[in-house]
Amino acid sequence: MYCWFLAASLLGAASARVATPGNETLPYLDAALPAHERARDLLGRMTWEDKVGQLGGIRRAVSRVNGEPSFNRTAFEQTRKTQNGQVGLGFQMNWADEVLPIVNELRQEQIDDSRLHIPYITIADSVNGIWVSGGTLFPGTNAMASSWNVNLYAQAVEVIRDENLAIGVQWVLSPEVDLAKDPRNGRNGEMYGEDAYLASEFATQYIKTMQEQDDDGWVKVATTIKHWVYGQGSGGVNRASMHGGINHVLNDLGAPYIKPIREAKPLSLMASYASVDHVPLSVNRHLLQDVLRDIVGFQGLIMSDANAIEYLYTESKVARSPMDAAKKAIKAGLEHELHPGGHGVFTTLIDAEDDEEIVSLLDESVLALLQIKFLTGQFDKPLPTIGDMKATLRKKEHLEVNKNMSRESIVMLQNDGLLPLTKGHLGKVAVIGPYADIINAGMYAACNSTDPAYGSSFRRSMERELGADAVLYAQGTNSILPSNDTDDASIQEAVSAAKDAGLAVLVLGSGLGTFDPSTVNNERTDQEGFAHADLSFPGQQQQLLEAVLDTGIPTILIMSSGQNFLLPDSILARTSAVFHSFLSGEFTGDVLVEILLGETNPSGKLTVTIPEANGAFPVAYDFLPSDDRGGFGAATKYDWHWPQLTRSPALRFGYGLSYTSFEIGNVTATAARGACNTTAVHVSASVTNTGERAGQEVVQVYYRPDVSVIEMPVMKLIRFSKVEVEAGDTVQVEFVVPGRDLGYFVNGDWVADGGDYAFWVGSSSRLEDLTQVNVTLSH
Ligand SMILES: *[C@@H]1O[C@H](CO)[C@@H](O)[C@H](O)[C@H]1NC(C)=O
Ligand SMILES: *[C@@H]1O[C@H](CO)[C@@H](O)[C@H](O)[C@H]1NC(C)=O
Ligand SMILES: *[C@@H]1O[C@H](CO)[C@@H](O)[C@H](O)[C@H]1NC(C)=O
Ligand SMILES: *[C@@H]1O[C@H](CO)[C@@H](O)[C@H](O)[C@H]1NC(C)=O
Ligand SMILES: *[C@@H]1O[C@H](CO)[C@@H](O)[C@H](O)[C@H]1NC(C)=O
Ligand SMILES: *[C@@H]1O[C@H](CO)[C@@H](O)[C@H](O)[C@H]1NC(C)=O
Ligand SMILES: *[C@@H]1O[C@H](CO)[C@@H](O)[C@H](O)[C@H]1NC(C)=O
Ligand SMILES: *[C@@H]1O[C@H](CO)[C@@H](O)[C@H](O)[C@H]1NC(C)=O
Repeated sequence: MYCWFLAASLLGAASARVATPGNETLPYLDAALPAHERARDLLGRMTWEDKVGQLGGIRRAVSRVNGEPSFNRTAFEQTRKTQNGQVGLGFQMNWADEVLPIVNELRQEQIDDSRLHIPYITIADSVNGIWVSGGTLFPGTNAMASSWNVNLYAQAVEVIRDENLAIGVQWVLSPEVDLAKDPRNGRNGEMYGEDAYLASEFATQYIKTMQEQDDDGWVKVATTIKHWVYGQGSGGVNRASMHGGINHVLNDLGAPYIKPIREAKPLSLMASYASVDHVPLSVNRHLLQDVLRDIVGFQGLIMSDANAIEYLYTESKVARSPMDAAKKAIKAGLEHELHPGGHGVFTTLIDAEDDEEIVSLLDESVLALLQIKFLTGQFDKPLPTIGDMKATLRKKEHLEVNKNMSRESIVMLQNDGLLPLTKGHLGKVAVIGPYADIINAGMYAACNSTDPAYGSSFRRSMERELGADAVLYAQGTNSILPSNDTDDASIQEAVSAAKDAGLAVLVLGSGLGTFDPSTVNNERTDQEGFAHADLSFPGQQQQLLEAVLDTGIPTILIMSSGQNFLLPDSILARTSAVFHSFLSGEFTGDVLVEILLGETNPSGKLTVTIPEANGAFPVAYDFLPSDDRGGFGAATKYDWHWPQLTRSPALRFGYGLSYTSFEIGNVTATAARGACNTTAVHVSASVTNTGERAGQEVVQVYYRPDVSVIEMPVMKLIRFSKVEVEAGDTVQVEFVVPGRDLGYFVNGDWVADGGDYAFWVGSSSRLEDLTQVNVTLSH
């Protein structure tokens, strides 16, 4: 059989720590004991009230009123009485140095005042950096994934981890491994893209880096893999595959969880809001226990999403009352409640002490949280200091890593030869569009996009680089929402700027907004809470684009958003160059300028396929063969079958251009017997830089079994490697794929049978960019 090389479990692992002398009578205070022993000891000393209190927390400790942080003691105490497991930082536009003293005080109070001195653990979302303002602002997750550079990502996560530690946050609500297969989903910018393997590689790295142990053996920052599990649309195609069963959950939606959970052991997991097969995840015992725990092997704490337990009786109506919902959820396997404000639902369990099953499940739930607290050193480590915080946030090296990340995250989708521009020969440049002068970082970023202190927008970067006189800025339109606005004065202004300059750069997108409470969510067309009925540029941006293209002036289009937009041939044919920069970091503007001027050679690749029409999806490259059947003859503009409407999407998963050119050749795949008598496929290829300058190429390996027990996608990514190649040089790339990795789940069992396989190696998932080789694998 196969050898398993699983990392030792963090849970229950003893670690060498310095003992705190003095209190030998209380084992839970003994830092030398393993976390699970300390947790058991403490549990034995807790009252029912103590235990119920640990099931929830206070998500939003500090708000902001009139530009100042504001702490409401009355509201805090009301919640604290019944929910005191964790504490959140509150409003994200507060500055770290304002929030830290307040949160430190609350934490110290809880240690001093609570009967058993049980500390909170500080918890926060952390997508492109720390939750509150003042840290290093990275690009969004889909941007970072577009780098296809897992080592660089590890550096970025290390920065995000250390900045979290510096403000005392030791539990983050990431990574999000939901798959961005549906372009309508407003949250795609928070995800790693449409592919399970890519997401799983990035998420494994994220968890390993965050949960690294410090010199004393404490886990630096606990992670939460989420949201187990979300589905995806079926596309309305006759004969298309139907989804919902166990093979879909384990091979598609759950696939990005397997490796992170087995190898990196995230300490917690968040259940999704979704109902799978009519059963909301919060009460879905089958998916939480039989599948997640028993098959996937998850051992950490399972938490709810915000308000999810409440939705059981307010929306799904699968519970009669708050207490009914709480009982059903804890019986299904939820162990902790994430609640943005108010009373929470698990607090109602205070009246369930006579229910033996609840009593024992509640003990398990409290133990799960206490273990995270002990593993992360909450009982033993000192609170963070303002001095350390200031020395850590936005360190020079952190900013450099961030800039490096931006340099590799931007994807060039088209270049007719206009780029790179030559600085010395540039006249004026028109910089146009409602996204040209903001940092569009996404709603989970602590980014006041209108504040110039937050890095440089593309416009500001261009002005700095070329001089303000050389940049003709025109917003073009402020209509970024669906509107009947026919006023095109500002569009005309942009057209004039384009004509005056002779070169136009348009920055269009979605997701604009600041986190000022007075404007929150009132101008967004992307991110959580939004789905896209129309994938063209929202508001009057489409008219703006057409009007500028109609001038015939050379035009560069930069997309700025978590989402993808339609790029029909009519647009592509008239646009000189096209980029997607996804959700910005603070250096996205600077790096776009470096790229336009050729100082940085772009190397990002799409992690999401760009759809060709609003109705033509699923669009992800790894569709099932039956998704592409059921049509008669060629599809037209009005109907479709995968993968072609009027053309197959050229801008597919894995695609992205460079200023140099590469040739991937000499592709071989051979089966070999390796360590532990396992079989493996050895894939090799050479990458030759056939252009004039150094660049990076992402070599991608896809595969498919010829015959399988269940229907398998037309191809799946199985390995990738980003390599730097000097002009004229050739670099050899080797991959080893253990036979085991080529398997799939059938009704919960992993099947890796050997047999005939096709492998493809190349620079994107487009067939024209791939070389096929076949290999036969014995058992
Ligand atoms: C031991 O712990 C108890 C309870 O936390 C505390 O009251 C006592 O002061 C501690 N004793 C020492 C020597 O630290
Ligand atoms: C503080 O919270 C309490 C309880 O929720 C509320 O009644 C009061 O209005 C709040 N005070 C302020 C200044 O917001
Ligand atoms: C940024 O990237 C450059 C080029 O790869 C490298 O030399 C430099 O060390 C990187 N900076 C950091 C802080 O990692
Ligand atoms: C955002 O920045 C602008 C410009 O500096 C400022 O006027 C506004 O108050 C800021 N908003 C918040 C919530 O900090
Ligand atoms: C546009 O006009 C139509 C017809 O008057 C109206 O129903 C619709 O609400 C308007 N849309 C917007 C976004 O104002
Ligand atoms: C194949 O490999 C040889 C050297 O082993 C190299 O010279 C040649 O450029 C490679 N061909 C391609 C297409 O990469
Ligand atoms: C290795 O595996 C093959 C095929 O399963 C088997 O025939 C052979 O005996 C194994 N060798 C060892 C040393 O286990
Ligand atoms: C791989 O197998 C397919 C059919 O299974 C065949 O069409 C193709 O020519 C083979 N390719 C190579 C390089 O052998």
